[in-house]
Amino acid sequence: MLLNTSKQTDLKESDITDQAIYRDRRKFLQKSASLTAVSMAPSFLWPTIVSADISFENIIKSDFSTKDELTPIDAVAGYNNFYELGLDKGDPKRNAHHLKVKPWNVLVSGECEETGEYALEDFISPAKLEERIYRLRCVEAWSMVVPWVGVELGPILKRFKPTSKAKYVEFKTILDPENLPGQKRQVLEWPYREGLRIDEAMHPLTILAVGLYGKELPNQNGAPLRLVVPWKYGFKSIKSIVSINFLEEQPPTSWNIAGPREYGFYSNVNPDVDHPRWSQKRERRIGEFLKRETLPFNGYADEVASLYSGMDLKENF
Ligand code: MTE
Repeated sequence: MLLNTSKQTDLKESDITDQAIYRDRRKFLQKSASLTAVSMAPSFLWPTIVSADISFENIIKSDFSTKDELTPIDAVAGYNNFYELGLDKGDPKRNAHHLKVKPWNVLVSGECEETGEYALEDFISPAKLEERIYRLRCVEAWSMVVPWVGVELGPILKRFKPTSKAKYVEFKTILDPENLPGQKRQVLEWPYREGLRIDEAMHPLTILAVGLYGKELPNQNGAPLRLVVPWKYGFKSIKSIVSINFLEEQPPTSWNIAGPREYGFYSNVNPDVDHPRWSQKRERRIGEFLKRETLPFNGYADEVASLYSGMDLKENF
């Protein structure tokens, strides 16, 4: 049992559904794994300092927060998808110490005037930290409600002065196969990469999280810096970001490379577009017994549906 909550029986029941989908997804990954050698490109060299349990102060509350009941922290930080730290839901927490997060730099490149490599603290400041309580809906049909601590991505991106050619933003996770056990296996093309259209990246709901439940992000949740795009399936919310690249063309993304028919570039939460191997109509909120309906755009349609007006969302899934 991976979860340490009082509702053990509820979770056992619903775990079965999850496990089936998860095993299916993993089988797919094993099948599609390429036989090429794991990339051994050099990674950044981090001193071996483990993240301290630091609480943030003066966090601003946000009107964008949902009033849905929070998922207990044991589940948020104990039931994770972070394939660099292992494939099972409990692996990321167990292997969290392999990820060295201090110091941390972010490389900014591509179609912008202010390119360069920035220490995390400089990259984030002077933005004010906010608490954003968001629903997180995984493509595997489970969901959580997480009180993130973070900053809006848009104002941060604007500081680097994107040029008129910047139509997309690409994000990459740290590449460190020597230390990250999952990157020794070619389950996905490493480093994990994701992308957004520039208007999606600039949308006020899109944040970079540095914490949750008022404290620094646990490593297994993508410390020290992860994307959170609450109207998209969770795999768009890339963890442990080391690079941001402004591009004219749509970038290739890890899950789309692994399964183009299954994981689209947009991946907006959409109950009307099933995953080829399971329904997306309902979801299991972690800690609840009965499944609930999945909402278009994960319940954020009023805020974001206009970004896609005129687009066929079945084709652009
Ligand atoms: N980012 C990286 N680098 N590696 C991953 O395996 N998994 C994604 C996303 N970001 C993943 C990642 C998936 S599938 C989901 S559902 C969310 O992280 C899970 O976030 P959580 O573990 O904080 O709930």
